[in-house]
Amino acid sequence: MLRAHSDHDNLRLDDHPLVQVLLTAARDEGTKPPEFQRLVIAITSLMASAATEHLATRPVTITTPVGQAHGQRLERVVTLVPVVRAGMGMVDGLRKVLPAARIGHIGIVRNKETLAPEPYLIKLPPDIAEGRVLLLDPMLATGGSASFAAGILEDAGCTDVLMICLVAAPEGVQRMQHDHPDLLIHAAALDECLDKRGYITPGLGDAGDRIYGTIQDPRPSLHGSDRQDTR
Ligand code: PRP
Ligand code: URA
Repeated sequence: MLRAHSDHDNLRLDDHPLVQVLLTAARDEGTKPPEFQRLVIAITSLMASAATEHLATRPVTITTPVGQAHGQRLERVVTLVPVVRAGMGMVDGLRKVLPAARIGHIGIVRNKETLAPEPYLIKLPPDIAEGRVLLLDPMLATGGSASFAAGILEDAGCTDVLMICLVAAPEGVQRMQHDHPDLLIHAAALDECLDKRGYITPGLGDAGDRIYGTIQDPRPSLHGSDRQDTR
């Protein structure tokens, strides 16, 4: 269910009907943090299939309670690298299907005025370059954060890196094409553009805030009398 994008060589859109239905629910401003986080995990889990499609496996024989069966094991370990914070919200979706995956962390916060990425944490497995790396961030806006993270992975020697995001903006996809032309991006949606504050339009708002319940948007529907009581 992956579709190449005619305007962007580095982008594949995941058209799976369930991905699209769940993303629509996640975008809805009425979707509150616990449900939003559940949707992010479910979408990421569905997108995991395409992101791991060409992983090498080796044949193994195992013993079932009844006899011997021939099967497959992954040839190399996969490393998940969430861009902290919001990317952490995607990790459980991949761990459901890649229980042995290791997790590296790249912490970046986007400066609200300049929109420049401000890194604060880099912790990667020393042998990260040995297998596929899945770079996780639900939002690809200007591309500053993703490009910085991809640069860290490049410096660590990684040559098999794929990014999974939920919503991408054309600006971010173009930035990644320019800065990291070999890196393929799987996205659930390519939106119209960025607004004046650098938010993806129509997007889904601030993914990190919606996952972790730190919403600062003063609109009553997101923060106020009808805020969901999660106690
Ligand atoms: C968001 C998002 C990306 C980044 C995208 O993180 O999760 O990391 O912004 O924007 P960009 O493409 O313009 O760099 P944010 O800085 O809000 O931090 P958070 O994950 O801690 O909420
Ligand atoms: N970060 C987000 O979480 N959302 C956007 O729309 C842009 C950057």
